[in-house]
Amino acid sequence: MKRVNKILENEKYLYYLKKNIEAEKNRVFCHHDLRHYLDVARVAYILALEENISLKKDIIYATALLHDIGRWKEYLEGVDHAIASTNLAKELLEIAEFNPTEQAIIQSAIRNHRKYDAKNPPLDQILYKSDKISRPCIECAVVKECKRFDIGQTPKLYY
Ligand SMILES: [Fe+2]
Ligand SMILES: [Fe+2]
Repeated sequence: MKRVNKILENEKYLYYLKKNIEAEKNRVFCHHDLRHYLDVARVAYILALEENISLKKDIIYATALLHDIGRWKEYLEGVDHAIASTNLAKELLEIAEFNPTEQAIIQSAIRNHRKYDAKNPPLDQILYKSDKISRPCIECAVVKECKRFDIGQTPKLYY
């Protein structure tokens, strides 16, 4: 997990985390903070183990830690945060010594994390799923207004 810790120690990464916290100060729905990234990383890793997907643990964690890192840009500039996060991730992955092939796999998953497509590569799919099912919606005060759930649908725990 040496490369993952390189991301966590990167000053730019810490700056982007702070930008997300600032931008979501008054947000009543789920936040896109480090807690969310770690929840996603852990569920994604469990999914990979359960589904026999052969991916290095640090690749899964790096993807989850970076997937929403550009969320603040969506609030400030109106850009799609999947694209913003893909772009911001590039330099951080490079510094953390992920090779070009690994960078491309990770960037694809971040770019596609908002939409499910059965044709996408395995990492894209487990990121999409873990992003959704890792949220602790059961204790949420605004679950009735959340667009993730249809009227009358109740959140369930999976992992
Ligand atoms: Fe996202
Ligand atoms: Fe997310």
